[in-house]
Amino acid sequence: PNVQWFPGHMTKARKIITENLKLVDVVIELLDARIPYSSANPMLQEIIAGKPKVVALNKSDLADPAITKKWVAYFRSKGIQAVAVDATQGKGTKQLVKITEELARSKTEKLVSKGAKARSARVMILGIPNVGKSSLINRLAGSNKAKTADKPGVTRAKQWIRLADSLELLDTPGILWPKFEDMNAGLKLAFTGAINDEAVDRELITGVFLDTMIKLYPERIKERYKITDELPETSGELLELIGKKRGCLVKGGVVDLEKAQRIVLTDFRSGKLGTVSLDTPPDIEETENSQEKN
Ligand code: G4P
Repeated sequence: PNVQWFPGHMTKARKIITENLKLVDVVIELLDARIPYSSANPMLQEIIAGKPKVVALNKSDLADPAITKKWVAYFRSKGIQAVAVDATQGKGTKQLVKITEELARSKTEKLVSKGAKARSARVMILGIPNVGKSSLINRLAGSNKAKTADKPGVTRAKQWIRLADSLELLDTPGILWPKFEDMNAGLKLAFTGAINDEAVDRELITGVFLDTMIKLYPERIKERYKITDELPETSGELLELIGKKRGCLVKGGVVDLEKAQRIVLTDFRSGKLGTVSLDTPPDIEETENSQEKN
């Protein structure tokens, strides 16, 4: 599922989204709840140009609930509605539809008051690869998904899925590129598997990941790998210890570090290290103060 983004791809992605944006009243920005900052496209605001949006923090089943709550509050403090969802289980999706409907209604009502004919409001989902766009569309679609056969000679029209009495969802998500410039964001995208493992240095990302876990969630590591003593201070020592605990040994009792790296990353991605959040929102008080200054 991994795409290599070249400038041409970004131009094309942007063009397609800009075209589709003309058809919708509201945008759902899909972020990874574990890394809402790192999984955001850096140009989204510019691309959607004032279109109302709601933020959906997906994969919330894998994120630290206390931190997700803070993110929701953070977005609200910025005047942006946000909701935690789990696209695979369908958690939070009702609330997401409700918020989207409300945002859309305020928009369509304005149009009607200006003399336009009443019509259903329309919404589309935008986000970087792997954030869960297809899962969310499928979940929201339920049995409303249009089942049109791919017949030769039949032009493929835009497919809309009805989500509520006056709300329709575009069946094609907008795929955005991830942050490239920000090294920390890139590492976090790699931890979560949003960036292809083959394209990154697994030794490096496992090292940085374990350093982060030692700092933020040492207990999770201890529990998972049955470590009773204090954790070693460096990620290198910790990886070796995990390898030993997991029996990743090659001849002569040497730890197969590569195998240990795979175990750690797979455990994290599948939620076996518990709910973990790697981005925390900026301090709300801080941002409120800076808003006052503006
Ligand atoms: P995309 O369209 O944005 O590229 O993302 P997609 O829906 O394909 O989802 C990417 C991966 O994330 C999938 O896993 C999907 O199951 C998983 N996913 C999506 N939403 C959630 C969620 O809310 N919680 C959790 N835990 N996982 C989610 P995959 O390993 O690529 O495929 P598979 O495991 O479904 O076979």
